[in-house]
Amino acid sequence: MDYEKLGQEAIAQIGAASDLDALEALRVALLGKQGSVSALLKTLGGLTPDERKETGPKIHSLRESVTGALANRKEALEAAQMEARLASETVDLSLPAPESPRGSVHPVSQVMDELAEIFADLGFAVATGPEIEDDWHNFTALNMPESHPARAMHDTFYFPADGGEMNPPAGGNATRMLLRTHTSPVQVRTMLAQGAPLRIIAPGRVYRSDSDATHTPMFHQVEGLVIDRDIHLGHLKWTLETFLKAFFERDDIVLRLRPSYFPFTEPSVEVDVGFALETGPDGKARRVLGGSGDAPGHAWMELLGSGMVNRRVIEFAGLDPDQWQGFAFGVGVDRLAMLKYGMDDLRAFFDGDVRWLRHYGFSAFDQPTLSAGVGARL
Ligand code: PHE
Repeated sequence: MDYEKLGQEAIAQIGAASDLDALEALRVALLGKQGSVSALLKTLGGLTPDERKETGPKIHSLRESVTGALANRKEALEAAQMEARLASETVDLSLPAPESPRGSVHPVSQVMDELAEIFADLGFAVATGPEIEDDWHNFTALNMPESHPARAMHDTFYFPADGGEMNPPAGGNATRMLLRTHTSPVQVRTMLAQGAPLRIIAPGRVYRSDSDATHTPMFHQVEGLVIDRDIHLGHLKWTLETFLKAFFERDDIVLRLRPSYFPFTEPSVEVDVGFALETGPDGKARRVLGGSGDAPGHAWMELLGSGMVNRRVIEFAGLDPDQWQGFAFGVGVDRLAMLKYGMDDLRAFFDGDVRWLRHYGFSAFDQPTLSAGVGARL
């Protein structure tokens, strides 16, 4: 058989392949499992050693030249294809950006920006702390010693101890790591780091093992803390009233303070806010804040927890409670967003559904400012 001629024919065919698809078809026909060159290679097995010595090198060099020709042709065709694309494709930089794939600011971020703006005007700085917290900062320093019953209410996510078990040891362990269950540990961290006086808010993520329409395992809180001399409950009430009026952009916000209990505040106050049910544009009833909860058609709704910082917490944080007092509060950011902007299912906040984000998200240009208004338009 004239292997050289076979090779020349194959190479001519390869050179004539006009596109990458035709070239691939040729490659399969020549070198594929059922290909003609592959078939020749298989005949080697049936030859005598002498015949093989004579024919083997010819078949192998045939295969090599075919392989080389295929690679060269492929490179040439790809280069030509790229040339054609570069010649035909253009970018018109003067076209307006397309309307649909537009990012938006998540309501949680928007509300956190609004809070920072409102509290900055009252002289508060923004503080942060770690989401992976230790037992001491999350509980003990907040006057919840080991085996304090309030710990059980927090449905804490603990990290496995060195031994691998997930539940906290019976005696407690100050260095045991957990996902913080509230933003209150930032109170302790900030007092330890900065001393007094102090005015901060601490927004951030918190975690509890709980999940239904109004609870998600991760949610957002903002903590407020003021430490100074001669601070009393009146300062707390004024601050909350001023904040809520600015946030909801209404002067008729009415608060009701109720005695309550938190281990880290004494006295503790639960704060309720008056609201009325109104029919929204979608025909659904929604809560609109404003007015006394005792007025006709109105009711009270629990909004946040607060109180005077317990002197034991001030001691744990390295300050002298005879010199320094203060108040603290904690409020759900997601909850604030739902009340202000009218969402009714908390879980949707964390679904990442672009349709929801497109509807409830905010323009990045709609920065909250006190001069232009802290509320954004949906
Ligand atoms: N940390 C409390 C909670 O998560 C809220 C709170 C903060 C109450 C500060 C009082 C003072 O429920």
